[in-house]
Amino acid sequence: MEVKNFSEYADYRKLKWVMNLSLPNDFLDDIFLETLTLKDPNFEEENIIIAEEDGTWIGFVFGVERKIAPPDEVQKHKDIMWIKAFGVLNRYASTNILEKLLREFEDMAKEEGKKFIRVSDYASWYLTPGVDNLYDYYNYMLVNNGYNRVGAVVNYEIDMARFYIPSYVERLKKKSFSEYNIVFENVTDVDQTILKWIKENFSSYWRTEAEIAMKNAFGGVVVAKRDGEILGFSTYGSLHPSWFGPVGVSKESRGMGIGTLLLYETLLELRTNGQRVVIIPWTKHLFYYAQLPGVSRIRYFNIYQKELER
Ligand SMILES: CC(C)(COP(=O)(O)OP(=O)(O)OC[C@H]1O[C@@H](n2cnc3c(N)ncnc32)[C@H](O)[C@@H]1OP(=O)(O)O)[C@@H](O)C(=O)NCCC(=O)NCCS
Repeated sequence: MEVKNFSEYADYRKLKWVMNLSLPNDFLDDIFLETLTLKDPNFEEENIIIAEEDGTWIGFVFGVERKIAPPDEVQKHKDIMWIKAFGVLNRYASTNILEKLLREFEDMAKEEGKKFIRVSDYASWYLTPGVDNLYDYYNYMLVNNGYNRVGAVVNYEIDMARFYIPSYVERLKKKSFSEYNIVFENVTDVDQTILKWIKENFSSYWRTEAEIAMKNAFGGVVVAKRDGEILGFSTYGSLHPSWFGPVGVSKESRGMGIGTLLLYETLLELRTNGQRVVIIPWTKHLFYYAQLPGVSRIRYFNIYQKELER
């Protein structure tokens, strides 16, 4: 087995191959691969290392450091190297190949002056927000190598063949309009007023993801408004055509059903864009998403951090 740097080859087809086969619960198509690589302003080919045997790529560690975007978050994250994803082909799981790759990666991060490695809460060009709890071997291996579990989040998956708009949502929509004058707009072109609102009310990351969605042919942002004033937003098609979110309602307007209406309006956009399965990534909310008909799966992710020894 040889450890190689991805930048020597830059073979994106081979990278897609080894990632898909090493991560059986994840499905990485060309659009997603582009989001994780060339579309990520922080992406550098040098931060991916590959294990190769007889010309076949059998394992990988895909790293990233926040050097460029969003600009106001760069300084805060200067000590961190993230692992976006990592893995090894199943038949090599009983070998020490992945541990070897991980050590090489840690050495590389130290050389870059990093103090921490995190897996994988890297917003915004991410595959998953942590390590799937079902990847037993990967979780075990990280813990065994000094990684501390620092958080957990879930992804919801919605089977759109079972999706419909329940009648309570129809009633809520009528009432919101007739009593509060709340309307919903689907915005598919870049709109700086909305982006500014998202940044001020939420974060630079969410602003970034909303902007990506507005630029994508398959994406957009649904906005809730009352008399021209923005009350909330909900995004679809930011990192992938099947992705929902982020979503947010201004603090003063929460608990009135606006979030529920944004959720359904946006899911309808995804349905009418022909999405078979919708992914709602990186959340801790239970009831808000559990109300959707068609929830078919909840994936559980562990987030890890390791402090690098000097
Ligand atoms: C999450 C958020 C968008 C919800 O917006 P909201 O306008 O307050 O939502 P609603 O008033 O429609 O719903 C309130 C709650 O009643 C729940 N609910 C469940 N069934 C319901 C029903 N039949 N009718 C009404 N509400 C129902 C909603 O799911 C939600 O649950 P929660 O306790 O998990 O929040 C809002 O709280 C927010 O902006 N939070 C901060 C940003 C955030 O966390 N975004 C999500 C990131 S994944």
